[in-house]
Amino acid sequence: MRKGIVLAGGTGSRLFPATSIVNKHLLPVYDKPMIYYSLSVLMLAGIRDILLISSQRDIAQFQALLRDGRHLGLSISYASQEQPRGIAEAFTIGADFIGEDSVALILGDNIFFGAGLSGKLRDHTDDRDAVVFSYRVKDPSRYGVVEIDAQGRALSIEEKPAHPKSNLAVTGLYFYPNDVIKIARTLTPSARGELEITDVNRIYMDAGRLNVEALSRGYAWLDAGTEAALLEAANFVAAIQTRQDFKIGCLEEIAWRMGWIELDHLIQLGRQIKGSAYGEYITALAEEAQ
Ligand code: G1P
Repeated sequence: MRKGIVLAGGTGSRLFPATSIVNKHLLPVYDKPMIYYSLSVLMLAGIRDILLISSQRDIAQFQALLRDGRHLGLSISYASQEQPRGIAEAFTIGADFIGEDSVALILGDNIFFGAGLSGKLRDHTDDRDAVVFSYRVKDPSRYGVVEIDAQGRALSIEEKPAHPKSNLAVTGLYFYPNDVIKIARTLTPSARGELEITDVNRIYMDAGRLNVEALSRGYAWLDAGTEAALLEAANFVAAIQTRQDFKIGCLEEIAWRMGWIELDHLIQLGRQIKGSAYGEYITALAEEAQ
């Protein structure tokens, strides 16, 4: 069974003072904490055993919010990353948690949305190859950039290149076989002092074991790392939710639709936060299903 890791560390310094005492991933994106969106993606991929990595200072707050995950049909455990030593360190921090399994990693500030996303995520049951998800962006230099051939195979992958070879960003969602732990242990820090996820991906690419899954124009991929991006993400979520009366990233709803919690339990979860639009949404869902 594939395990899941959410990486929600860092100092959030680009968002100071908003993040001086609150972890960036706990800031709201419209009506729910940012972390809900990444967690919801793992859940939609069918992943129930999840490790959340953050700094020691902030873990207690994530725990207060998500507890052990049992109320959502999940098992959530916690580990700390003390220094921002890079995304790939998640696999050495999480080595015991991953055990013998394959693993999906998502960055806590990435938001994915689009029809058919869960099907796309669940398609990847092959545990021998790595999978990254690419997305066309206007400003590829801000991201990992992948260049692909006509068959969609990766030709090159570079971290924040000054002269990007394509406009395809590598999003912050990655599926890896179990040997990612071994690979992560061989990495050395980059010029910015981090164990780069792009180096992990390049190792899989060189071994012919990297699949690039394109998220087409019908998808939204947003990262909420700057104040402008945070506002854009909130506006996007608000626009879709208000128009359709469906919520993006409602963990209780997903747990229930996945069959991980019973209707009675969903009703209780809605009651616990009644008075908020989010709570009323859960209650309305449950009433509709009764
Ligand atoms: C990280 C990765 C980069 C990826 C991006 C997605 O960038 O290093 O390859 O495209 O996340 O959000 P960072 O957040 O370290 O700037």
